[in-house]
Amino acid sequence: MRVIHVVGARPNFMKVAPVLEALRPRENVTQTLVHTGQHYDSNMSDVFFQQLGIPPAHLNLGVGSGTHAKQTADIMTRLEPVITESKPDVVLVYGDVNSTVATALVCAKLGVLVGHVEAGLRSFDRTMPEEINRLVTDQLADLLFTPSEDGDANLRREGVTAEKIFRVGNVMIDSLLRLLPLARQQPRTGFPERYALVTLHRPGNVDDAGTLRSILESLLEVSQEMAVIFPAHPRTRKRITEFGLNPAQLRLIEPLPYVDFLALLCGATVVITDSGGIQEETTYLGVPCLTVRENTERPITVSQGTNVLVGHDSGRLRDEVSKVLSGNPKKGTIPALWDGKAGERIADVLVTHLQGA
Ligand code: UD1
Repeated sequence: MRVIHVVGARPNFMKVAPVLEALRPRENVTQTLVHTGQHYDSNMSDVFFQQLGIPPAHLNLGVGSGTHAKQTADIMTRLEPVITESKPDVVLVYGDVNSTVATALVCAKLGVLVGHVEAGLRSFDRTMPEEINRLVTDQLADLLFTPSEDGDANLRREGVTAEKIFRVGNVMIDSLLRLLPLARQQPRTGFPERYALVTLHRPGNVDDAGTLRSILESLLEVSQEMAVIFPAHPRTRKRITEFGLNPAQLRLIEPLPYVDFLALLCGATVVITDSGGIQEETTYLGVPCLTVRENTERPITVSQGTNVLVGHDSGRLRDEVSKVLSGNPKKGTIPALWDGKAGERIADVLVTHLQGA
């Protein structure tokens, strides 16, 4: 069985690592890793490969940044000859980034089987580029690997037949579990005892000057209670400069490597974020998470986990921070199948379905 994995952006890397690892010892499996080059900064890409033990990509398409149409089209144009030539039995795509949807489109049109890891998540908010990517990818995929029951229900509602859906659990938790012991040993020198850990990068939050200013003002309020540590995504840092904002009381730092970020996550008093993956990681770790969005494609982190959607209501954010500080944060449990074995379950499905291919 010949498998091609296509990844491109930071949140893809922790998802591909366990699948690569699980397929490695299986008999008659050849794996090829293609990096689209959507994320190209070393601290957004290379360092994740190193820490997660991902072998260097066989091929980097070097697409870089651009508008959505340009980035998606560049990936498609550069990937098509690769798929045509190598004729894999299956191509695996991850998450909801532009690299995911571009690859699914190329493969579906070439008649190559597509497996989507982290299928079925929906925010029901089509202003998010990721929601468009999720909807299209899931319509095109042949094997849909879901992390939780809500994913299966969303897919069924959209007409995906049951035999294509495989609830394998949360593959990102596989990576988290693998590197947690290392993260817990990391010295946290230079970081305070009590702190809020912040990440923000959604276009809806950072691309509009008024919205970004008001979020930063809320964070400045939080900074009167505890230190605010803010590893800033390149998009966010660029906008802060462009809009002439100067959140001096916040501790803006460069994006962190995976293990270093996990270490800060484990020790955080509260996490304030608009990321998808971090809502899941905090739920697993039992760390309070306040999500600066009106919706989430990961509702299980709210219904079962420690996540609270605070939207853009600064009063709500303040109240939730107070709850945490008074020792009364939202408590949660770990969802089913978030057990570190999702990669193995994906490998099992692939081997069963494509045996002899
Ligand atoms: C992408 C994903 C998003 C994911 C996020 C994680 C899409 C539509 N969005 O958003 O779902 O949560 O990655 O990081 O695919 N840039 C750099 N260096 C890099 C990468 C990006 O400087 O290595 C800058 C560029 O100026 C670029 C901007 O960040 O224009 C946005 O990058 P892009 O990959 O288009 O989207 P993200 O915002 O990173």
